[in-house]
Amino acid sequence: MKGIILAGGAGSRLFPLTLVASKQLQPVYDKPMVYYPLTTLVESGVREFCLISTPHDLPRFRQLLGDGKAWGLSIEYREQAKPEGIAQAFLIAESFIGKDDVTLILGDNIFYGGDGFSEAFSEFRGGASIFGYHVNDPERYGVVEFDGEGRAISIEEKPKQPKSNYAVPGLYIYDNNVINITKALKPSARGELEITAVNVEYLNRGELRVHRLNRGFAWLDAGTSSSLHEASAYVQTIEKRQGIKIGCPEEAAFRSGFLSLSELESLINKIPKCEYRDYLQEMVAEAKRLKIEPSALL
Ligand code: DAU
Repeated sequence: MKGIILAGGAGSRLFPLTLVASKQLQPVYDKPMVYYPLTTLVESGVREFCLISTPHDLPRFRQLLGDGKAWGLSIEYREQAKPEGIAQAFLIAESFIGKDDVTLILGDNIFYGGDGFSEAFSEFRGGASIFGYHVNDPERYGVVEFDGEGRAISIEEKPKQPKSNYAVPGLYIYDNNVINITKALKPSARGELEITAVNVEYLNRGELRVHRLNRGFAWLDAGTSSSLHEASAYVQTIEKRQGIKIGCPEEAAFRSGFLSLSELESLINKIPKCEYRDYLQEMVAEAKRLKIEPSALL
């Protein structure tokens, strides 16, 4: 399964923060925002990535993440000249996807809460898998409606009168047909290739699965100054209370078996003395002490 991180867009709602660095490079408590979606996919077993951003911001992402090798990953980069829709990512990354299945995550979507996505990834056999998350303000999102038996029966983009409270978060899993489905799409009234139109096509084909995310799961929005601040506060609260980190790609790569203990140790040696380094060092010490598989660590 290939992974796309979509990290473009104008970022105008965060002006003037985004004058120099794009939204997905802004700090969310102690890490750049893009670390969180990257970690979510690494935790889900994805190892090969393509990050898409604007021509202006792409060099910064390269500087931050490099080719991914140090983390046992591979990361390629592609430009999106103009924000012409989330689904355009599948056309921009067509050569990267090749003949594989693909998952797309939005670079400003932050998820936290155990193994919310693991079933969807492990059970994926084809078609499309998306998620439903109960929110207070569904009209801001793609909205999925369920029938009495819990089957998805409609999906609408930002409906004025939402048919349910279930919003579709920015993480999607598709088979390779997504490329041809996107090629057949017409731009919407707002001039975009809509991800909701892709999902509607899979729904019409009877090939869409919607997994409901349970109450204990957090999906945070970091698109405005105040939601960015709230996301930072949330991450800080959990990290301080539990002594664990959310959105730490090195840790996720180690747990997923993409980095060996010795590779992780040499990587840590290159990190300057700081709290982030201390955290990784403690994790290594714990892994050595317990002598268990990395995936079994807390
Ligand atoms: O966050 C989940 C929602 O994301 C879904 O529920 C909606 O169905 C989906 O359309 C999308 O809605 P938004 O209104 O949040 O989309 P927005 O245009 O803000 O784009 C989301 C992110 O993707 C944002 O960080 C910028 C990036 N983006 C967006 C577009 C349209 C790109 O990089 N390129 C693009 O062309």
